[in-house]
Amino acid sequence: MSAPALAEKTIVIVGLGKIGSLYAACYGQAGHRIRTVDIGDGADWERVAQVPDPSAVDAWVVATPTVTHLAVVEEILRRQPDARVLLEKPACYPEDLAGLGHTVRRHPRARIIVNDVYSHSEAVQRFAASVRDLAGFDPIRKITVEFTKNREFDVANGRFVDTQYGEAGYEGFHMLSILRAILPSAAYRAYLRTVPSSVTAEMRVRTMAPGIPEVELYTSSTGAIAFPELAGFAFPEKVSEDFIAPSAIPYGSEFRYRFADVELFSGKHVTLVFEPFFGADPDHKNVHAVHIRDTAAPARHFRIAVNHFKEALLTQLDLLQHLDEGTTVVRPAEHRFLAALGSAMFTGIFPHTTENEKFARIGSEA
Ligand SMILES: NC(=O)c1ccc[n+]([C@@H]2O[C@H](COP(=O)([O-])OP(=O)(O)OC[C@H]3O[C@@H](n4cnc5c(N)ncnc54)[C@H](O)[C@@H]3O)[C@@H](O)[C@H]2O)c1
Repeated sequence: MSAPALAEKTIVIVGLGKIGSLYAACYGQAGHRIRTVDIGDGADWERVAQVPDPSAVDAWVVATPTVTHLAVVEEILRRQPDARVLLEKPACYPEDLAGLGHTVRRHPRARIIVNDVYSHSEAVQRFAASVRDLAGFDPIRKITVEFTKNREFDVANGRFVDTQYGEAGYEGFHMLSILRAILPSAAYRAYLRTVPSSVTAEMRVRTMAPGIPEVELYTSSTGAIAFPELAGFAFPEKVSEDFIAPSAIPYGSEFRYRFADVELFSGKHVTLVFEPFFGADPDHKNVHAVHIRDTAAPARHFRIAVNHFKEALLTQLDLLQHLDEGTTVVRPAEHRFLAALGSAMFTGIFPHTTENEKFARIGSEA
């Protein structure tokens, strides 16, 4: 799916750090007029309140630290009550979710979308379509999603330190976007209300609940790979030898082991592997593959070449222009689910469990 053609817009990017700079580059290259706000150096203005003529702004991007999101969104809506806002994820910290809901209700003409790269990814959409085709007559038994990278270098430099959602805050939203693409919507809503059977500190979340397939989400920011067998076959031999066979991505490596695997009752697997050409293709970040493996038939696969970050930003900017007034896509249930995972990792108790349902599987798996 190619990005929609866009007329030139005036876009104000609030927060010109690592992520805000990517927005500026993407929208600038697409021919939009970019203005910037950052309390640090190098932006056009320091505060939203200084932006002249806010009614001429077509869209705002909020890419400041998560803790400031609610205050920044409020400031924007004070200046432009019918603003179109693309908000970085997480939308806010859990304690601000009610406040964000209140702010949205006080501005019934605003449109707010929380950035959701994976739900707009052509790779995810084509993978989900393959799963739907096959699962029509061969139901899903298990879904496994893994997002592993060694982020210890980033953490040493103060990035990827989420004090509220914890490990769930980095990749959890992306993993839920993939699950949302695969499961029918009623099953997905049911999943968000489940109590996992276990949650561990590196974040392995296992769920077995009536009416939905078994689901296992796993993410590690220390580079510890959990499921080498489910997607390791898709990578070049050198990558398999160096990282996947030892199940450990070393400190400082840029290698990311990310996949979503759907196992059907027949034993067939449909697997989306992100960036499988690491080390073999200079553009590896923009090439993904879907593999269909069957014990009874030869394996097949197809590739999807797409810069899904860029494509999602352009698609969501276009969406913002066409949304009805008052439409927001914030997904508070996902935020609450991930916040509960974060708190389970710290306390061993999932907040919406009763005494009898408590689970305390903290630490590594036995
Ligand atoms: N979508 C993704 O995959 C993804 C990945 C990483 C981070 N993020 C999210 O992006 C957001 C920004 O993360 P980052 O890594 O770019 O952070 P960053 O620290 O690199 O940049 C934040 C910038 O905001 C500025 N800032 C802080 N408060 C401000 C305010 N009140 N008004 C204006 N500017 C202000 C800072 O000076 C800084 O330049 C966070 O919400 C984070 O969770 C999303």
